[in-house]
This record gives sequence, structure tokens and C-alpha cells, in this order.
Amino acid sequence: MAGVRGRFITFEGIEGAGKSTQLERLLRRFAGNGPEVVVTREPGGTALGERLRDLLLDPSIGTMAAETELLLIFAARAEHLRRCIEPALARGAWVFCDRFTDASFAYQGAGRGLGMDRVAALEDWLQGDLRPDLVLLFDVPPRLGLERALSRGKRDRMENEDLAFFERARAAYLERARLRPRRYRVIDGALDVDSVAAAVDAAWSDWLAAANHGPVPGDDR
Ligand SMILES: Nc1ncnc2c1ncn2[C@@H]1O[C@H](COP(=O)(O)OP(=O)(O)OP(=O)(O)O)[C@@H](O)[C@H]1O
Ligand SMILES: [Mg+2]
Repeated sequence: MAGVRGRFITFEGIEGAGKSTQLERLLRRFAGNGPEVVVTREPGGTALGERLRDLLLDPSIGTMAAETELLLIFAARAEHLRRCIEPALARGAWVFCDRFTDASFAYQGAGRGLGMDRVAALEDWLQGDLRPDLVLLFDVPPRLGLERALSRGKRDRMENEDLAFFERARAAYLERARLRPRRYRVIDGALDVDSVAAAVDAAWSDWLAAANHGPVPGDDR
């Protein structure tokens, strides 16, 4: 429908936090009785982006310069934004995205130590004013998240990082959420799957109710 912008919902958190599991669960509850829903992920979401994802996650690539990693991720993101996310939002679809730019702040900005300013500069350039309407941040201790992620099979390139890397990423995610309470909801991802899903439902209802009151002056991006 022309003129009605969709909503942009992202699922964030470190490895094994439960992003993909809870995205699927929320999707099943949400889809079918409302607007079009587009489900996508980062890095990826387009043919080129998925090729870049393969490179980014391939353990045989080994170490790459942190700058290379950040730029490859934003290359995939530029493609994703122009060809998928922006057109979907413009036609009124609700976009559910498994990871987005918060992950770049957490992993490359904090984990790799590139700093938030570099990530913010790319975010401003490529996204303009576009930010997620809702970020569901699944918070788990890295040891638990990695244990879960590794139980799925062999490690990808990021999962080869040490616990300190994921501790830095976790702290950066939590700090971003703390500074932006209107858009972010922190969910305890250490609970069992059903309890996490119940927390997602509560956060979702709370956000919908708040969103209906319109923009709150003074909330930042
Ligand atoms: N609350 C939970 N309790 C126990 N196991 C869980 C829970 N949530 C997810 N899992 C399991 O942990 C593993 C990782 O979950 P999931 O794939 O949803 O995490 P993720 O955040 O998407 O991870 P990644 O960043 O690696 O994509 C899966 O095998 C999943 O079934
Ligand atoms: Mg996942």
C-alpha cells in the first residue's frame, strides 16, 4: 500500500544467544494476520551478500584485517539495504532481520577494537536516518552462547574468537541498549526456549503499545 512505511525489527546478540530460534518463533505468531513480512539476515540477504557472508565466516580465510572485515560487512549491508530492506519498507512490509548494524558496533567496533566512530560513520553514510524500529537483544554469557553455537557443529570464522572478544561484544550491545531504551528491548537469552519466547511476546506487546503513542521527543538514534 502506497505511503505506509513498514517496520524494521532486528534480532541481535552474540553467538548462540537464540536470535534465529526466536525470530522463527515470533514469525509464526505474527505472520498471516497482518502486513507482508520479509525475513532476512546479515551478513547476507542478497545473492552477493550471501557470497560475502561465506567469505566472512569461512574459517579457512583465517585472520583478515579488522578494516577489511568491517568494509566487507558494510558492502554486503549496502547491497541489502538498496535491494531488499529499503524497497520492502517502502512498500509497507515488516522486515525481520537476523543481525544488523548493532552487530558491527559490537563485533568490529568493540570486539575488534575499531571503535564506535568508524562504524557510526559508515552507518550514517549508508543508512542515512534508517535505524531499526525495534531491536530485540538476546543477552547470554558468552560461555553459554558459544557452547550452544558449537553444539550445532563446526566453528565458523567468528566462533574461533576467544571469550574476551565476545565479552566486549556483549558489553557493547548492552551499552547501546541502555542508551536507547525506546527502541531496544533486552531479553534474557539464558532461560529455556519457551521462557525466552514469553519474554519476546511481552517485549513485543510493550513496544507496540509504546509505538502507538508516537515518537517520544528526546530519544536518540
Ligand atoms: N533458550 C535456549 N535454551 C537452550 N538452547 C537454545 C535456546 N535458544 C536456542 N537454543 C539452541 O542453541 C543453538 C543456537 O541457537 P540459535 O541458532 O537460535 O542462536 P543464534 O543467536 O541465532 O546463534 P548464531 O549467532 O550462531 O546464529 C541452537 O541449537 C538452538 O536450538
Ligand atoms: Mg543464528
